Order: sequence, then structure tokens, then C-alpha cells
Amino acid sequence: MQALRQWTEKLYSVLVEADVTPFTAGQFTKVGLQIGEEFIERPYSYVNAPDETPLEFYFVTVPDGPLTNHMTQLQAGDPIWVMRKPSGFLTLNEVPDSKHLWMLSTGTAIGPFLSILKTGDPWKRFEHIVLVHAVRMASELSFAETIQSFKERYPGQFHYIPIVSREDTDFAIRARIPAALSDQRLEARAGLEINSADSQIMICGNPDMVKDTQSVLQDRGLERNKRRTPGHVTVENYW
Ligand SMILES: Cc1cc2nc3c(=O)[nH]c(=O)nc-3n(C[C@H](O)[C@H](O)[C@H](O)COP(=O)(O)OP(=O)(O)OC[C@H]3O[C@@H](n4cnc5c(N)ncnc54)[C@H](O)[C@@H]3O)c2cc1C
Ligand SMILES: NC(=O)c1ccc[n+]([C@@H]2O[C@H](COP(=O)([O-])OP(=O)(O)OC[C@H]3O[C@@H](n4cnc5c(N)ncnc54)[C@H](OP(=O)(O)O)[C@@H]3O)[C@@H](O)[C@H]2O)c1
Repeated sequence: MQALRQWTEKLYSVLVEADVTPFTAGQFTKVGLQIGEEFIERPYSYVNAPDETPLEFYFVTVPDGPLTNHMTQLQAGDPIWVMRKPSGFLTLNEVPDSKHLWMLSTGTAIGPFLSILKTGDPWKRFEHIVLVHAVRMASELSFAETIQSFKERYPGQFHYIPIVSREDTDFAIRARIPAALSDQRLEARAGLEINSADSQIMICGNPDMVKDTQSVLQDRGLERNKRRTPGHVTVENYW
């Protein structure tokens, strides 16, 4: 392990140099630690772009979580295990062409979207890209520098919408993603309409958010993307 970056009391990035099989932005791999007699591994999304080093995994410590509470104890140089082979379908290969790409995330699930946005691909394919990051507290809106770099590099094309659900701020929406979609607050903030003609939506994170968001979108005629029947919605659940 190269370094541990602490963002807040509970949020960390672990930075690792490891020889892994090339992955597609948006994919995940498994990260593991030998803890006493036990080897514990879990899936984590790559935050770095495929051509970037070190590898970066962004995680939150969950109460009594067997792996995350040990990862926070790591010191530079400690061994950590990264599965070579990537997995997952939250990638732009799975997303049909359209005008607008919406990326909806809760908590640590902003990671795979950052990996995708660090590549050139989305900026060539979509006229507008909206990144929504929903967290409980404003301090959990990590990666401000990376997001600022997208704003500067792609002005007019990139729209970042923070959601902070448990405190008032003068910049973020205070709501959950499905509610902010239902009352069209997200669209008003982006200045873009979500509809089946123009929109592709990627959703990642809390499985209840993923389910409820899909349901709101389905009511508006946006269906899951399937290999044989292209739709509008591509999802990944974190648990
Ligand atoms: C495809 C995939 C990709 C994932 N990528 C990431 C990632 O990039 N970063 C990351 O932090 N986690 C990610 N996870 C979750 C991760 O694999 C672990 O479950 C998590 O880090 C907790 O590990 P643990 O052993 O401490 O606790 P676990 O026993 O694995 O989890 C205990 C409980 O914690 C909650 N939980 C788990 N993960 C999260 C989370 N990320 N945010 C909020 N609550 C959570 C759930 O209620 C879960 O049941 C991913 C999961 C999947 C399936
Ligand atoms: N102590 C507890 O009671 C409790 C409960 C859940 C999770 N946790 C733990 O706290 C840690 C931090 O998690 P986190 O804040 O990164 O992730 P999170 O609980 O998934 O919250 C991230 C964001 O997702 C929203 N969200 C939660 N459930 C949703 C749903 N059903 N639909 C739409 N949006 C939803 C949250 O809004 P809201 O603020 O409105 O929830 C918040 O804005 C994790 O370890 C988790 O396991 C603790």
C-alpha cells in the first residue's frame, strides 16, 4: 500500500501500486487484507482512470464492517491484495448514444463516475454531462479538486449537482435523489430535461436509492439498458 488519504472521520482513499489487468473506466475489482487467520476481500470501484497510477479506491468505514475498519489502520508499505481481473458493467460501453448523460451517485459511489470522467470518452460522446453526488453532510462531498478540474476543462458541458441530505447549505439540494427527480429539482438545477429521447442515466450506490430512482424513471418511460433491448438506465448496487 502506497498511502492512505483521509477525507473525513469515516471517508478514506487507499492508494496502491499494483500490476493489474487493464480495466474499463467504471469497473471494480476486489481488494483484500489478511486479518489474523482470515483473508477478507470486498469489491471496490477504481477511482483512477485506466491509464493513471497509483490505483485509488475510495471507501467509507461502516459500523462493524470487517474489512473497512482494518483498512483504516494501514501504514505506507503494508501489504494489500488487489485482484488483477476487473469486473462490472457500469461502463460507457453499456450506454447507448444520446445527448445527455446523467450520473447519479450516493456516498462512495461517486468513484466509478470520476474514473469515467477522467477519460476522454464521455466528453466526446455527450453534449451535456450531469454528475449528481448525494451525501449526508457537506464535509462528505470529497474530490472537490477533481470536480473543479472538470468544470474548468469542460465549461458549459459539465454540470455538478451536490445533494446534502442532513444539513442546510447555501449550495446543495437538500433531498434524496428519487425525490429531487420526482419534483424536477435536479433538472431545474442542470437546466436540462430528462426524457427518453435525449437522456442516458447511470445510477450507482445505495441499493434503495437505485431501486427508487429506477422506479421514478420508469414512470417517465425510461427503462433499464439490456444488451438486446437498449434502454436508458444503467445501474450498479454497492450492497
Ligand atoms: C460492485 C461493488 C462495488 C463496490 N465499490 C465500493 C467502493 O468503491 N467503495 C466502498 O466504500 N464500497 C464499495 N462497495 C462496498 C464494499 O464492497 C464493502 O461492502 C464495504 O466497503 C464495507 O466492507 P466491510 O467489510 O467493512 O463491511 P460489509 O460487511 O461488506 O458491509 C456491511 C454493511 O455496510 C453497508 N455498506 C457497505 N458498503 C457501503 C458503502 N460504500 N457506503 C455506505 N454503506 C455501505 C451495507 O449496509 C452493508 O450491508 C462495493 C460493493 C460492490 C458490490
Ligand atoms: N447508523 C445508522 O442508522 C446508519 C444507517 C444507514 C447507514 N449507516 C452507515 O453509515 C455509513 C455512511 O453511509 P453513507 O452516508 O456514505 O451512505 P448512505 O447511507 O447510503 O447515504 C448517502 C446518501 O444517500 C441517501 N440515501 C439513503 N438511503 C436512500 C434511499 N433509500 N433513497 C435515496 N437516497 C438515499 C442519504 O440520504 P439520507 O440522509 O436521507 O439517508 C444520503 O444523502 C455507512 O457505513 C452505513 O452503513 C448507518
